[in-house]
Amino acid sequence: MDSFVIKGRQRLSGSIAVSGSKNSALPILAVSIMTGEACRFGNIPLLRDIQTQVKILNTLGVESVWKGREVRTQVKDTYNSTAPYELVKQMRAGVCVLGPLLAARGEAIVSLPGGCVIGERPIDLHLKGLEALGAEITLEHGNIHAKTPKGGLKGAEIYLGGKFGSSVLATDNVMCAAVMAKGTTVIECAACEPEVVDLANCLIAMGAKIEGAGSPRITIHGVKKLKAADWNVIPDRIEAATFVVAGAITQSPISITGCRPDHLLAFLDVLRQSGVVVERKGSTLKVVPGARPKATDFVTLPYPAFATDCQAQTMALMAIADGTSTITERIYPERFMAAAELKRMGAKISVANGTAVIQGVDKLSGAEVMASDLRASAALVIAGLAAEGETRISRVYHIDRGYERIEERLRKLGAKIQRQSVGGEETTAAAVG
Ligand code: EPU
Repeated sequence: MDSFVIKGRQRLSGSIAVSGSKNSALPILAVSIMTGEACRFGNIPLLRDIQTQVKILNTLGVESVWKGREVRTQVKDTYNSTAPYELVKQMRAGVCVLGPLLAARGEAIVSLPGGCVIGERPIDLHLKGLEALGAEITLEHGNIHAKTPKGGLKGAEIYLGGKFGSSVLATDNVMCAAVMAKGTTVIECAACEPEVVDLANCLIAMGAKIEGAGSPRITIHGVKKLKAADWNVIPDRIEAATFVVAGAITQSPISITGCRPDHLLAFLDVLRQSGVVVERKGSTLKVVPGARPKATDFVTLPYPAFATDCQAQTMALMAIADGTSTITERIYPERFMAAAELKRMGAKISVANGTAVIQGVDKLSGAEVMASDLRASAALVIAGLAAEGETRISRVYHIDRGYERIEERLRKLGAKIQRQSVGGEETTAAAVG
């Protein structure tokens, strides 16, 4: 198992390019199931989760060829419609083959994704939406078994809100299934995240008839079949935000290029409130070093509000801010795993009932910490960059799920960060591609 060793307090400089969005690429790759034609997907990040998704597609009879950041796919056979537990347990997003399989093959058996370290992650909304289209669903032997009825799926009006608001992957699944259903489907309380819009735009380019993606009401007029996909996914807004925080916490003049600042307005607003200056020019965000950040309160909510996936990284920044901040998690109330590890680095954080109270300290100190999930790991890297002395982060395979060769890219900015294998040898992240 690899670790990162970071020597903190180095000033960074230069520019860093943002990769393609993981959370766009995962459902978009799954649409290859929905056409008999050869597909091309570009700007695909070289990540462990993407590899897992491609493996799931391979078990479903989809052949794939990787070339750089491009993945080409072609359905070769349709005998197997079962997404196996060994793969879905590694990555919950495996569940996003459910809608495409049902639409294209009339049957889907997808292993029920189990528990998750960031909290309870039910799939009731996915099932409710598909059932509203007429799918017959049973849960047996740890699998979701969904079948289309005689005569196929039929368009319906579906309210897809849950107790935490909209759901990204449930919206994706229901939208995909509705694309080839008979008649018109209206999804009310649809997720508005840019990744949902990216999937809708890819489907539209394949011949789907979808209106309203990016708003809470999506209308889909069913079509008989889809053509090939030829699609480049959007830049990763969460990765961009992570690098902005890395610049802010180290007070470094770094530029984050190739991003979509318009996808980050709530995040940038919180940074502005905390006094961090981020200049926006086209697709580049530039961090301008300034005074110590001020404590700021914020709440995570579905898009366009502050994203839960940026919460842990911003908490690391608030840990050294002047004053006391509160962060309330309204998507995953238990998603504060970074707090306990940041405390080992000298942060003063208390968590209760879905809210973290962070009393800013003058500085963090390097320590041995453990990565527990993707975004908490990113928060520890950010804290390590700012901390005095050495920080050693174990179990960094979590970070490889969502950030491509992060240590190499940060090193190019001047960070002192090395990857070490258990034996102490430095390794590269090439294996994750
Ligand atoms: N929810 C339900 N029922 C459902 C589905 C979701 O109650 O059937 C609840 C969840 O428990 C949560 C809320 O609804 O409280 C929102 O969850 P959502 O379904 O939107 O999450 P997701 O689609 O499973 C995606 C991202 C996550 C990101 C969330 C929220 C992908 C592959 N994953 O997950 O990304 O945190 O949306 O924005 O798109 C990450 O990249 O680190 C990550 C966890």
